[in-house]
Amino acid sequence: MLSRTPWLILLLLNIASAQIPTPNPAIPSPAAPPATSSAPPPAGSVQQHLVSFTPRLGRTSAPLGGSWLGLSIEWTHVDDALGTGVGASQRKDIRTGPIIAGLLESLRNSSGGWPVHIRIGGNSATRLWWQGSTLPRNPQSLWMVIPEELAILQQVAVDTFSKFVITVPMLNPDPAYAVEFLTQGILRNIAPENIFAIEIGNEPDHYVKNQRRPPTYAFPEFNAEYTNAYNAITAAIGNGFEYQGPAYAYPWTEEYFVPFIQTQKGTKYVAFHKYGQQGCSVYTNPNAVTPLTLMQDPEPEEYEWLDAIAQTSRAFNKTLVWGEGGSSSCNGTAGVSDTYVSALWTVDMALEMAYRGIQYGSISGAGQTYYAPYAVDESIGRVTARPTFYGMVMVQRILRGANSRVFRAPMDGGWATVGNSTKTWGVLHSDGSASLVIITKEAGAVSIKTANVPPVSCPNGAAAKGFVSRMSVLSSTPLTATTGITVNGQTWDGSLDGRAIGDYVEESIDPKTGIINVPGYSIAVLRVGCDAGMIGVQYTPPVPAPFIPATEPGKPGWTGNGTSAGIPGGAETDANGNVHGPRVGALVGIGIAAAVVLLGGILTVLGIRRRRRATLVDSNSHPHPYARNSAYIGKRGGEMV
Ligand SMILES: *[C@@H]1O[C@H](CO)[C@@H](O)[C@H](O)[C@H]1NC(C)=O
Ligand SMILES: *[C@@H]1O[C@H](CO)[C@@H](O)[C@H](O)[C@H]1NC(C)=O
Ligand SMILES: *[C@@H]1O[C@H](CO)[C@@H](O)[C@H](O)[C@H]1NC(C)=O
Ligand SMILES: *[C@@H]1O[C@H](CO)[C@@H](O)[C@H](O)[C@H]1NC(C)=O
Ligand SMILES: *[C@@H]1O[C@H](CO)[C@@H](O)[C@H](O)[C@H]1NC(C)=O
Repeated sequence: MLSRTPWLILLLLNIASAQIPTPNPAIPSPAAPPATSSAPPPAGSVQQHLVSFTPRLGRTSAPLGGSWLGLSIEWTHVDDALGTGVGASQRKDIRTGPIIAGLLESLRNSSGGWPVHIRIGGNSATRLWWQGSTLPRNPQSLWMVIPEELAILQQVAVDTFSKFVITVPMLNPDPAYAVEFLTQGILRNIAPENIFAIEIGNEPDHYVKNQRRPPTYAFPEFNAEYTNAYNAITAAIGNGFEYQGPAYAYPWTEEYFVPFIQTQKGTKYVAFHKYGQQGCSVYTNPNAVTPLTLMQDPEPEEYEWLDAIAQTSRAFNKTLVWGEGGSSSCNGTAGVSDTYVSALWTVDMALEMAYRGIQYGSISGAGQTYYAPYAVDESIGRVTARPTFYGMVMVQRILRGANSRVFRAPMDGGWATVGNSTKTWGVLHSDGSASLVIITKEAGAVSIKTANVPPVSCPNGAAAKGFVSRMSVLSSTPLTATTGITVNGQTWDGSLDGRAIGDYVEESIDPKTGIINVPGYSIAVLRVGCDAGMIGVQYTPPVPAPFIPATEPGKPGWTGNGTSAGIPGGAETDANGNVHGPRVGALVGIGIAAAVVLLGGILTVLGIRRRRRATLVDSNSHPHPYARNSAYIGKRGGEMV
């Protein structure tokens, strides 16, 4: 844990200087008026603040990637997070979910056309095995990936231009599993052009905790294992792919990220995971996260440790990736991760990460988790955008495509000195325009005037204009609202095709003299530029590659004798790769014990299992023979992440 002292000092200094009204500590009661009102407050009632376009401490981020914010989805949720619903692959329905396609297009359009990158990975990547595997199955391998799931990914690429980061399993230190999955599964179903990167393993710093490696396992062992896997994979599939790793959960990130970057020359994308608050482990508890604690995240200098990592990444020509994150870990927190406060968090956290040198990020959990950006709303049986999705759209619209640079914009000379009060960010866009972002993390409105508006040159010598975009919610309990959110006046509530409902709205103001009222719990963005409206097309991606089976063995796409013939054989191995007899009873015991600890009660587990049984194809009718009577197939449908 990082020291909180600097934050406390800043807080105390700020209280002492009393520059800003004390934040109202309480969530407004239902009787309080709605927090959203565009009308300027009566003169004198709201203190006016001066926000400056000058990068604080002269520091701006490196130029950012075009589609900054993408998704991270578990292998266990391909069907419902990308396809037409739970069990789609078992029904051989490989279509992209139509609402999901619209949501992805909304994200893509908001960045000027840059494809959304989607990571398929997480704990489920460690626990998967390929359905045609001929290797001994590991005891913790509970999730069988079938060709139709990969066909769904290929179809999503064709339909939405998205590109995939594919996480391959490293549960067993023997890279044969990863190689088999790639050569027999992935490359027989997905066109190589649609693969952004291959990620080797997931969260090795949790292997010991999760009994996947012996207690003595440490960074040197992992790094050697990674090298071994990288060499085996590139030997098997050639040099045509980019790689991503080490996907640390957190325990090793601060200490062992730099040595990883320094030694893994062939891995271009270097990724770490970070959730809001303190994550989920024996030390913390996602249920302790509340809307008010989330408002204090991230703390102003909490991520200072990333600076050295970003610097090393640049020196080694790596792309630094926030590979997995969300408002709180372990499936998120009900009433927080799935409410409007998570939208505010998503924007502030993404800008913090961008500022620290992260080139792109992936928000975790599409599928049935609290932090999912979208999920099936059981009450209406339809995919709906959750508040986090609005935050993601807002991030894309704030950054406006490739090569933007984020900075801390000083407010009244300081920056974010009031924790869960008001945060300010600045963005320099690649076309010479610039934006100020004001995030009010308090109930009361703030009133903003700009200082030192940058000289933006417009065609024919026209004067630059000011355009104000907003994210807000209409609710008497804004922080915990689940609907009523708008970005640029647009909503996805009730959208049947994943496209926004309503016209894109911006307000016009004189950037030099205009005063912007930012209601409590909302975001306002002043852009100084030449043209109104959302960014136009900045990037036209090539037509996504179709999947073309190869005609020669050993080449990507070689389908050989088909993928459904192989049936896993041999005995299971333990975490050390030692073979021993079937341990189904022990496995179920461990699974339940872990679930009891993590879910807080066996009743929850039984409830989940019952629901899964109700919605899933019975294992006896599963297309693959191995699935028949499988004790594991009932596990389909949910991975705790
Ligand atoms: C944030 O809000 C909480 C709850 O009202 C309050 O206890 C805390 O002091 C606030 N923190 C800051 C930095 O304003
Ligand atoms: C995305 O932009 C294109 C081109 O402007 C437009 O035709 C399409 O309707 C937009 N899609 C969404 C989901 O907004
Ligand atoms: C990074 O790229 C630059 C320019 O291509 C090159 O000169 C430099 O040697 C590279 N550095 C490393 C550590 O690979
Ligand atoms: C995760 O949260 C969702 C709520 O969105 C719930 O339906 C699901 O059962 C939870 N999954 C687990 C494994 O707890
Ligand atoms: C698989 O294909 C090879 C040719 O690539 C052939 O020699 C072999 O007999 C086939 N095996 C089966 C089981 O069909």
